[in-house]
Amino acid sequence: MNQVRRLLPGFQTTSAPTSVERLKERGFEAGLKKVFSMTGEDVISHITASGLKGRGGAAFPTGLKWSSVYNAAGPTKYVVMNADESELGTFKDRVLLEEDPLGALSGVVMAAHVVGAKKAYCYIRGEYRDVERRMAEALQMLRSEGWVGTDGVDIEIRRGAGAYIAGEETALFNSIEGKRPEPRVKPPFPTIKGLWGSPTLIQNVETLANVAILFAHDTEWFKQYGTKDTVGTKLVAISGHVQRPGVYEVPFGMPLTDILEAPNLGGGVVGSGRLGAILLGGAAGTFLSREEVASGRLDYGSLAAIGASIGSGAVMVFDDTVDLKWVTARLARFFAEESCGQCVPCRVGTQRIVELIEQGGFKSRTQDLRELGLAMRDASICGLGQTAPVALLSLLDRPGLTQHA
Ligand SMILES: Cc1cc2nc3c(=O)[nH]c(=O)nc-3n(C[C@H](O)[C@H](O)[C@H](O)COP(=O)(O)O)c2cc1C
Ligand code: SF4
Repeated sequence: MNQVRRLLPGFQTTSAPTSVERLKERGFEAGLKKVFSMTGEDVISHITASGLKGRGGAAFPTGLKWSSVYNAAGPTKYVVMNADESELGTFKDRVLLEEDPLGALSGVVMAAHVVGAKKAYCYIRGEYRDVERRMAEALQMLRSEGWVGTDGVDIEIRRGAGAYIAGEETALFNSIEGKRPEPRVKPPFPTIKGLWGSPTLIQNVETLANVAILFAHDTEWFKQYGTKDTVGTKLVAISGHVQRPGVYEVPFGMPLTDILEAPNLGGGVVGSGRLGAILLGGAAGTFLSREEVASGRLDYGSLAAIGASIGSGAVMVFDDTVDLKWVTARLARFFAEESCGQCVPCRVGTQRIVELIEQGGFKSRTQDLRELGLAMRDASICGLGQTAPVALLSLLDRPGLTQHA
């Protein structure tokens, strides 16, 4: 199987990424006109029928989220594009916004129109200055074309606060509101009480770009790729021991081996040339063995069956000489540093995991590590603490991966 290019513009695309020509060439202008001519219910039922799920990590059904904000009571609503992208090994939103900023931005305009938001924010990772400049150019063009400003939605770019936790949706709201980026307790969920206490639709960049291409085409076209339960394409960010690290768009359902090996994708394992394992889904992802990679496919259902998830689409590849215990120790330090410290299971748990690993806990304290991980998963306030032990637990569940080290 090969890469496809739908979210990413085709290689034959010649127009400048922020130009009105690009808006037309990619079908986004036609898509915007289509959405503006439909009722909100109709737009939402198209999204629901497409089977689109959020690409920010949790795979929440997008149509359901839009419907919840659409139906929420309140005079003021907001739309937020989450481009904070600070998860280790994840860099696909950066590439998408560099190559085709008008896709995600058209998605923001469509979303605001449907849910009735007069104000939207694009929250961009602080280090992504080039992306921010490109977004500003794209916004300027949309303003001059009448899609942004005047009677429609006003879109503002906000620079990220420089912390992984700021990408968590409620921490992100606090950051926009000028507070410390600390997550709020849920419920209430953002669709009911989000930014400044109002119903808020927050979506990942790739999710919004999917909405734009859906209306630039139609549901049948959208469903051409993927499997029954996992429709469309996915951007994957491949890093580590592969010939061609980078961001690629692939159809859901693609064998994991193809992602690593196909000549126009990963291009094959380098280093020792023998695959040791992959970490699928980012720092909070799951280690998969060579055998699991050989039989695995990129779809929500089959990965859930082996306790894994696609997460943000990060695929970190390790050859068979890498000490995965060392990798896990690095991940643990990342979480200990990035924990906002607000709740005890995460503040203390992430630190304790680092200490246990450094004291040789992989050999002597595996049960303690496991119990600590499970307690964090069950008792932490937000997704950071809940998922910080996932990679560790997956390694403990696969003792074969650490036998050689
Ligand atoms: C610690 C943490 C960091 C996150 N960072 C991001 C991020 O950078 N980008 C993103 O889209 N979602 C991130 N999320 C998920 C968001 O909270 C939210 O679920 C997502 O933006 C919803 O969009 P979607 O439905 O389109 O996936 C993060 C979650 C956690 C717990
Ligand atoms: S789980 Fe961690 S990051 Fe999330 S609120 Fe608690 S301390 Fe903060």
